[in-house]
Amino acid sequence: GESELRKAASMLGRAERIVVFTGAGMSAESGVPTFRDALTGLWQRYDAQQLATPEAFHADPALVWGWYEWRRDLVRRTTPNAGHLAVAEIEARVPHAVLVTQNVDDLHERAGSAAPVHLHGSLFAPRCSACDRPASVPDGGAEPVGGRRLPPPRCAGCAAPVRPGVVWFGEALPQSALAAAVEAAASCDLLVTVGTSGLVYPAAEIPQVAARFGATVVQVDPGETALDEVADVNLRGTAAQVLPALVEAAWP
Ligand code: APR
Repeated sequence: GESELRKAASMLGRAERIVVFTGAGMSAESGVPTFRDALTGLWQRYDAQQLATPEAFHADPALVWGWYEWRRDLVRRTTPNAGHLAVAEIEARVPHAVLVTQNVDDLHERAGSAAPVHLHGSLFAPRCSACDRPASVPDGGAEPVGGRRLPPPRCAGCAAPVRPGVVWFGEALPQSALAAAVEAAASCDLLVTVGTSGLVYPAAEIPQVAARFGATVVQVDPGETALDEVADVNLRGTAAQVLPALVEAAWP
């Protein structure tokens, strides 16, 4: 309610070191589907095991590459929402701010966030499935990429298939990203978590690390999540609604 928002805003206004931790709910109001929301979540309509695992890519590279091309194309056709802009504003105002995201879209970057820590990689960083060389991002065509099969491009260096630059189930997170996120969480005085169900580890550890090291945790999410217990303040609302109100109240 109002008092919760005021409490969170006064902490935000005083914060010296902040971590903003985001999940798919951050991009929902831009029209990018989340994973686990009833009806609209991607995992309600697609089988994660068939699309988001190394085995799936090995078994049918064209199916997996085509699905990620569809997701990248969808992201290209959307725009950052007021929540993304509010996160960039927080980063500009808090002396030491680190943005850690589980999202693989580029909406934080397009909203002005300079260097989000991408725990789960990015749709815009494809790489060779064999030699790990970065590969170029295919240009978006005029026509939307339907969810059709598309053979992946070949690596310019070793001719192996190029893979999406995202972390699949069963894969390790990029060590440097995880280390940066844990270090930031362990040394912040405030962590704001936005739009994540808190179900997928080790990413979901980040808010708990912050709490363990004495930070205040504020959650922005319209629903209940696995992070409800670790949050000191729960702002029940959407990213594009709550974050701008929070910024406005913190720095009137
Ligand atoms: N504003 C804020 N939060 C929202 C909004 C919104 N407009 N709409 C939905 N949410 C919340 C939901 O209530 C839910 O808590 O966003 C959360 C989305 O949860 P998930 O779909 O599980 O997404 P996320 O937590 O980011 O998933 C984590 O799982 O599938 C893997 O690698 C994938 O990074 C992803 C990880």
